[in-house]
Amino acid sequence: MKIFLDTANVEDIKKYASWGIIDGVTTNPSLIAKEGANLEKRTKEISEIVDGPISAEVISTEAEGMLKEAREYVKWASNIYVKIPMTSEGLKAVKVLSAEKIDTNVTLVFSLGQALLAAKAGATVVSPFVGRLDDVSQDGMALIEEIVQAYDNYDFETEVLVASVRSPRHVLESAIIGAGIATVPPKILDELITHDLTDKGLKKFMEDWETVKDKQ
Ligand code: G3P
Repeated sequence: MKIFLDTANVEDIKKYASWGIIDGVTTNPSLIAKEGANLEKRTKEISEIVDGPISAEVISTEAEGMLKEAREYVKWASNIYVKIPMTSEGLKAVKVLSAEKIDTNVTLVFSLGQALLAAKAGATVVSPFVGRLDDVSQDGMALIEEIVQAYDNYDFETEVLVASVRSPRHVLESAIIGAGIATVPPKILDELITHDLTDKGLKKFMEDWETVKDKQ
């Protein structure tokens, strides 16, 4: 399973990239705005820290504008995935970009229908937003299960990138289902690595070692 970091905060990206388990980074206009950053400058900074795919989202809502932005974004670094919203204009742009071998991340996906169309258009990855579905009393993880099954049925090359992750459970259930990628906010990574019994066990080991270290 690939783990991407879902943030535009450079310090967080450096911190978690040092763990050696980050395979990519996803940003979006809200995450860039949260940092008060310039999209191009921040995307280039991130691409210097993490070798894997770095997702940067287009701002245009029309296909022609999306194409213009996408062709500019991929000049910034060699590991750019262009984030395209799941709209009819976005679909047109993904089809063209796929033919130009430009990697795309189709975002704001909330249904199997949207995921199927994105795969048919040649999306590199699709981003179903599980947390936002849960927020409106729908089952985000059930959608992931449906998409993974449907993609397997037709050998689609498009990968499922589970997004809008709000808890470690979203990551763990994604792994059980077999989703290829989860993009995880920094605080969820902290929750994934931490367990009280690990902390207690290590503390006990160190205390016990103190009683015998002089005999080594
Ligand atoms: O990658 C998409 C993610 O950043 C959206 O998360 O919590 O705003 O739904 P959230």
